[in-house]
Amino acid sequence: MTVPDASPLTIETLREPVVRHDPYPFYRTLRERAPVLWDSVRWQWVLTRHQDVMTALRSPALSAARMSSGDELPPGVPTAMALFARQLLFLDPPDHTRLRRLISKAFTPRMVEGLRPAITSLVDDLLDRALERGRMDVVDDLALTLPVDVIAEMLGVPRQDRGQLRAWSGSFGRLLDDEGMDEAAFFGAMTDLGEFVEYLSDLVEIRRRAPREDLISQLATVEEHGDQLSREELLANLVLVLAAGHLTTTHLLGNGVLALLRHPEQWRLLCGDPSVVPSAVQELLRYDSPVQRTDRLAVADVEIGGRQIRAGQSVVVMLGAANRDPEAFPDPDRLDLRRDDSHPLAFGHGIHTCLGMALARAEGEIAFGRLAARLPGLRLDEDGIVERDQSLVFRGLRHLPVRWD
Ligand code: HEM
Repeated sequence: MTVPDASPLTIETLREPVVRHDPYPFYRTLRERAPVLWDSVRWQWVLTRHQDVMTALRSPALSAARMSSGDELPPGVPTAMALFARQLLFLDPPDHTRLRRLISKAFTPRMVEGLRPAITSLVDDLLDRALERGRMDVVDDLALTLPVDVIAEMLGVPRQDRGQLRAWSGSFGRLLDDEGMDEAAFFGAMTDLGEFVEYLSDLVEIRRRAPREDLISQLATVEEHGDQLSREELLANLVLVLAAGHLTTTHLLGNGVLALLRHPEQWRLLCGDPSVVPSAVQELLRYDSPVQRTDRLAVADVEIGGRQIRAGQSVVVMLGAANRDPEAFPDPDRLDLRRDDSHPLAFGHGIHTCLGMALARAEGEIAFGRLAARLPGLRLDEDGIVERDQSLVFRGLRHLPVRWD
């Protein structure tokens, strides 16, 4: 795509249907013409180069504490906003350091490894049902369900409450998406958030009295040098785990299957050689990243890529663009499941690097691995329509109809 020289470069262009559908040519234009762009329409800096994105995500001058206090909103809503202020994602050191250390004590690689058998059986159950029906919508029948059921399993949410958990998650997952919600959806999500917090609060009390082998029990009792998570900190970050872990993983699975089916030789490679699965997941995350951007607020002057960013200015960090930077990934628009020498930024970088990274990778490895093993004849359903989600922060699909031979 070519952008006429006279038009100001702005990420408003991402709203155009063609660009929303495939933003990568526009990202290339940004990287080539203005890699550190002052977007004069949105009054924000926009970073698209891999190196600059890494520098920004490591810089103490760029704060993650960017949530509004909510004071301007109607009664009740600021209370929910206060919850966000205690979530890892929106905290800076030293508060972030302390909370992340405590939460990481429960959120361990061992815990993720222990979940693998449960994830495999969840995937196989979903595939059994699809096989019985003879057709499948990858989003509805696999990608939306699996991550929330895995989080429920990990948290120790009783089986009978999982339908409700799915409904809550669907409603407020997009609260992390500052572009994708109208006012009615926002207030609906806030009401659901209140209900979810009340539910979690009861569950925390139950587990505190009778701990089990689950994340809620562990977080409720985690301690370091006499320091513990407060009740609010615990609840806020349990909400974050569901909000940050659901749709992101859904989009990994949906985008990933679509990319594979559009590159049949890569799909055949995966079906023929299961040892490719781990690097395939890494590459699919790079190629079409579920989280396209994150945001920061400058709290001190800082130079990035030769431009001076001033305290008080906001910075859009384009992970999706950085993941297609030819300086970091030779031939970046090519899907290559064997690519192994790269550092994709799909999970972010620096102190806020995704806490659920190992879990998301495990889910991806198991889901793509089981799909390749059980449905090697998978193909796009020519009678169906691939429908894209409209968010500008998250990138994913609403529907992905498939069939198999
Ligand atoms: C943070 C992506 C799955 C929990 C992040 C960030 C990214 C990301 C880019 C950093 C955002 C920033 O720096 O502003 C993804 C992707 C996923 C995924 C692409 C799936 C493919 C998960 C899962 C969980 C999770 C499954 C938990 C169950 C978190 C948490 C943070 C985070 C708690 C905040 C960490 C911090 O601020 O210290 N994720 N995520 N994520 N993610 Fe994920």
